[in-house]
Amino acid sequence: MRVLVTGGAGYIGSHTLIELRAQGHEVFVVDSFDNSSPEVLARVSELTQATVPFAEVDIRDRAALGDVMAAFRPDAVIHFAGLKAVGESSVIPLRYYDVNISGTLSLLDAMDKVGCKRIVFSSSATVYGLPQYLPFDEDHPCAPTNVYGQTKHMAEQVLRDWAAATPEASAVLLRYFNPVGAHVSARLGEDPSDIPNNLMPFVAQVAVGRREKLSVFGDDYDTPDGTGVRDYIHVSDLARAHTAALRFANGSIGAEAINVGTGQGYSVLEMVEAFARASGRDIPFEIVARRPGDIARSLAAPDKANKLLNWHAEKTLDDMCASTWAWQSQNPNGFREEG
Ligand code: NAD
Ligand code: WQD
Repeated sequence: MRVLVTGGAGYIGSHTLIELRAQGHEVFVVDSFDNSSPEVLARVSELTQATVPFAEVDIRDRAALGDVMAAFRPDAVIHFAGLKAVGESSVIPLRYYDVNISGTLSLLDAMDKVGCKRIVFSSSATVYGLPQYLPFDEDHPCAPTNVYGQTKHMAEQVLRDWAAATPEASAVLLRYFNPVGAHVSARLGEDPSDIPNNLMPFVAQVAVGRREKLSVFGDDYDTPDGTGVRDYIHVSDLARAHTAALRFANGSIGAEAINVGTGQGYSVLEMVEAFARASGRDIPFEIVARRPGDIARSLAAPDKANKLLNWHAEKTLDDMCASTWAWQSQNPNGFREEG
């Protein structure tokens, strides 16, 4: 298939490009490089031994996006482009609504103009909000507790309404749990431009000596060791879920929300221990107050992905930590030090 990938230079997008090419798809990337750089695409080109074609375009720029769409004429779109920091989203909410909602509207409009009827969308487990029960299945009520989560929930609704109104259209709403890990080559990985918000990149930066110690946000949760439990999913497994979702979208109509997680939870302290083991480094940490808005546990029920997409997570916790360590230690400054 001809697949247009918005946000393809980002963390999850870049890993998905590798998988798309491995499956024989033709790709075209649209990215504003707001949170990435062309160097990422140069590395994907190197790994796949073929230049990745791209346009530096903001998805909200309807004219420019329309031109790209008309020239490439995709069979399907994978829509990663967006803003994703929970804390920041309550500080600059309008920007989050603009990029994540207006951006999605602009994209669907451009797709309509060329008759493209298939989309796979990056949603998030954060749409569920506080758990009424666990693991989260796709029927769990959605009540996001932060602006970022609201934008993902609203974008899901936009996509459902579009799919219902557009004959033969298909929208797959992938609700990612906690993506971590890096490409097996150690040439691609997560490269936060600022102080990492998420656990895994922070731990990796402590291990490599870029930060002094990890702050563990609370040890008094109702979990076995008192620290937060999450469903970490290897980014390469997540990338495979996208090619599986494309296959599914090709043979179905309507909108479908599907969790992408392993169903297995690990605590913050278990992650620290696993990372220390994989890296052979000490990970100094201190217990501090809970982070506002955090929940004790988040876990996916992955049954729907197993069944509809014929997809199963394969990587282990050690794969997640070892690949992150290889990426971090071989690229201590991320994508910025090449050249
Ligand atoms: P990322 O920031 O690494 O990638 C997003 C990409 O989109 C970047 O390359 C950025 O430059 C680009 N972009 C941002 N605004 C744009 C715009 N207006 N026009 C064009 N390009 C734009 O993030 P990621 O971790 O790869 O996440 C990808 C998607 O998955 C996002 O939509 C995110 O909300 C969602 N998601 C991420 C996680 C996670 O923990 N990483 C979890 C659940 C969902
Ligand atoms: C994991 C655990 C923290 C940092 C977020 C978004 C979610 C999704 C994934 C986009 C928690 C603890 C963390 C640190 C810590 N993103 N922690 N010290 O909060 O589960 O999910 O990223 O869609 O929407 O909300 O992930 O990696 O921030 O936290 O103790 O410095 O690690 O309290 O228990 P989270 P996380």
